[in-house]
Amino acid sequence: MTKLQTKIALLPGDGIGPEVTNAAVQILEDCASAFGHHFEFRELPFGGNAIDQCGAPLPDATLAACRGSDAILLGAIGGPKWESLPFGTRPEAGLLGIRKELGLYINLRPIRLRPALRGISPLRPDRLGDCDFEIVRELAGDIYFGEHKITSEKASDLAEYSVFEIERVARYAFERAAARKQHLTSVDKANVLASSTLWRDTVTAVAREYPSVKLDHLYVDNAAMQILLRPTQFDVILTGNMFGDILSDEAAALAGSIGLIPSLSRGRPHQPALYEPIHGSAPTLAGKDVACPLGAIFSATLMLRESFGLDAESQWIEAAVDRVLEQGYRTADIAEPGGRVVRGSEFTAKLRGELREAPAQHARSGA
Ligand SMILES: NC(=O)c1ccc[n+]([C@@H]2O[C@H](COP(=O)([O-])OP(=O)(O)OC[C@H]3O[C@@H](n4cnc5c(N)ncnc54)[C@H](O)[C@@H]3O)[C@@H](O)[C@H]2O)c1
Repeated sequence: MTKLQTKIALLPGDGIGPEVTNAAVQILEDCASAFGHHFEFRELPFGGNAIDQCGAPLPDATLAACRGSDAILLGAIGGPKWESLPFGTRPEAGLLGIRKELGLYINLRPIRLRPALRGISPLRPDRLGDCDFEIVRELAGDIYFGEHKITSEKASDLAEYSVFEIERVARYAFERAAARKQHLTSVDKANVLASSTLWRDTVTAVAREYPSVKLDHLYVDNAAMQILLRPTQFDVILTGNMFGDILSDEAAALAGSIGLIPSLSRGRPHQPALYEPIHGSAPTLAGKDVACPLGAIFSATLMLRESFGLDAESQWIEAAVDRVLEQGYRTADIAEPGGRVVRGSEFTAKLRGELREAPAQHARSGA
């Protein structure tokens, strides 16, 4: 069995960020001891706490340490304390900054329901089916990064894409689809937007490199509806920055709580990828030990698979999560009427107990 030595930059962030990353770190440490790996964590200021400590949301030392790591685990940033700061100096500027500096142009959000939680989905089970798909969102271009202009009378935001930007994210999405059910749905608004026309033409051209993958196109308004009407039709969805932002939150709701969904942001393969739950810092929950740690824990299992190739370790943890959920342990956001509601730290402790009961060699042998 290959033992892995790896450096993980840890950015707990603000609000519930430190609670949920702490849970994920405990689980990663259990995984390291069970499988004989060594994960070295380096905790760094980022977001609102970095503004307080260092005067900027993305301090140079944090960025340098992230660049020197093998992967980055982020909690969440932001909160009311920093909302009155001038635009561009708030915690969110750190998020856009790290994406830009590390060249993170792909955002992957796997939408996978945990079997024990099907009952809490807002969709009826017959519509939900075996819903299991991925959204690949372009992360570095589009209207978020184009020129923003505002006067007291008028405002505009420029949505721009180049062929190069579309091709590189499209290839990633085709590769994901090729490794899954060979079906890619590209989402745009090509009936009204020039940037979407280029998007559709470019994705169609890239499709020739992946003859095994069936490509179809949907307009974003129809895609928003189809995700709710028949989520089982999707395998991999590819879309631009703004449409991806919105559709991936909609899709995340299918799983039952925003507290459950992980994400991966990455650029070129040799650079460190960033993993984070998709939720924000949930200021009203912070410090109460009620937040669901699973989005952060699944971000860690996504890291094990995608950055380190540790599939058995990832499955070992996710199977234990499913057993804890089957036993009825739930944080408040995923509770069912009459169910057993536990604090976030109790859920993590229960999961750690379950991992101790499931020796690592069982995961290796597939038992
Ligand atoms: N990537 C990030 O760091 C990120 C993403 C989104 C929002 N934010 C920031 O977070 C702050 C709050 O934003 P928001 O309220 O729009 O979004 P949010 O995701 O923090 O909260 C939305 C809702 O989901 C609940 N929730 C979120 N995470 C949960 C968890 N783990 N367990 C249980 N319930 C959970 C919250 O209580 C709230 O009701 C803002 O400052 C925003 O800018 C940061």
